[in-house]
Amino acid sequence: MKILITGGAGFIGSHVVRLFVNKYPEYQIFNLDALTYAGNLANLEDIEQKENYTFLKGDIVDAAYVDDIFAKYQFDAVIHLAAESHVDRSIVDPLAFVYTNVIGTVNLLNTARKYWQENLQKHLFYHVSTDEVYGTLGEDGLFTEETAYDPRSPYSASKASSDHFVRAYYHTYGLPVKLSNCSNNYGPNHFPEKLIPLAIHNIKEEKPVPVYGKGENVRDWLYVLDHARAIDDIFHKGEVGDTYNIGGVNEWRNIDLIELLCDTMDEKLGRPQGYSRKLITFVKDRAGHDLRYAIDSSKLMNNLGWKPSVTFEQGLSKTVDWYLENTEWLHNVTSGNYKAYYEQQYTDR
Ligand code: NAD
Ligand code: DAU
Repeated sequence: MKILITGGAGFIGSHVVRLFVNKYPEYQIFNLDALTYAGNLANLEDIEQKENYTFLKGDIVDAAYVDDIFAKYQFDAVIHLAAESHVDRSIVDPLAFVYTNVIGTVNLLNTARKYWQENLQKHLFYHVSTDEVYGTLGEDGLFTEETAYDPRSPYSASKASSDHFVRAYYHTYGLPVKLSNCSNNYGPNHFPEKLIPLAIHNIKEEKPVPVYGKGENVRDWLYVLDHARAIDDIFHKGEVGDTYNIGGVNEWRNIDLIELLCDTMDEKLGRPQGYSRKLITFVKDRAGHDLRYAIDSSKLMNNLGWKPSVTFEQGLSKTVDWYLENTEWLHNVTSGNYKAYYEQQYTDR
């Protein structure tokens, strides 16, 4: 089987690529990635020489390029992760999210349809999406696969749009598709614009740790390898046309999470307990900040037998260790353009 994985040089994509390359030596894995600021081939150094792995540098918005690679490699299946993924960036530049997340997805769907039309049923288009499409929750309740879409940021609006197009191609053209909507991931190789790696980096450097608003927003955190394992299960065992929610049953208020992270890092760095909590700085809230996300993954757990493999404490400890050991990776991604991004987001906030 020849599988095209898009966005494989990013955070989640690199873990998915590694899992498939190592677990399925009989598959040929093609990683298509534009290497935007979020794409990093250093994430895949350990597998880049494997015979069943090929990297393709290209943009999913470029329809001619996407057509060329489908013609050349005749992919059997697509696992689509490439996206602009950061909510704060979507507030500054929504159009970039429309190009990649909407137009890029439709380009892939059109091309898959064109090359697979003779024997559609032998193929699969698996679209990786987010729980943010469901909007925001109050103090209780969970997002299920039946929850109505209610995206509230330019990022989630673009992902919701891409989900609608994927389902439209299933219903209108019979393209075999699967979708999954996952909660917040954390783990190694996470770009330090997102809360957990940004906080790890700042705590390490003894810089202020910015917490939006009062830190009362709630997210449901899942270790990235458990997301990759869920994608593997859904790709192989999920029903065509179905959607699966993926979550960690692991809700944290941002402030509680950051305090835990400060204490975990104090212990690992040999600092006095309570030392890093002094770095916590409440800053201006994110515009339209969704209050709470929480996922009901019972369909995935009951039908496909998936469950998270690590507790949050274990996952967070492994994650902190990874960042403390991979100082060169962290240095490389936080020099250059990152500095300008950081200034723009956090100065005078
Ligand atoms: P990321 O930003 O770390 O990586 C995105 C990757 O896509 C990068 O390697 C980037 O170079 C590539 N890319 C961006 N634009 C491209 C384009 N036009 N053409 C080709 N490649 C392009 O993102 P992530 O956090 O790994 O998220 C991966 C996917 O999972 C996204 O679709 C995201 O919506 C979804 N998701 C993420 C989370 C999360 O917590 N991070 C949770 C649920 C779902
Ligand atoms: O729920 C899944 C989504 O999770 C994914 O689809 C997105 O791609 C991913 O980026 C993530 O979105 P969030 O906006 O929830 O993640 P982020 O790490 O940006 O923020 C997590 C919470 O922390 C959120 O409530 C905002 C807050 N925050 C974030 C940053 C960057 C802060 O308080 N301070 C910060 O500096």
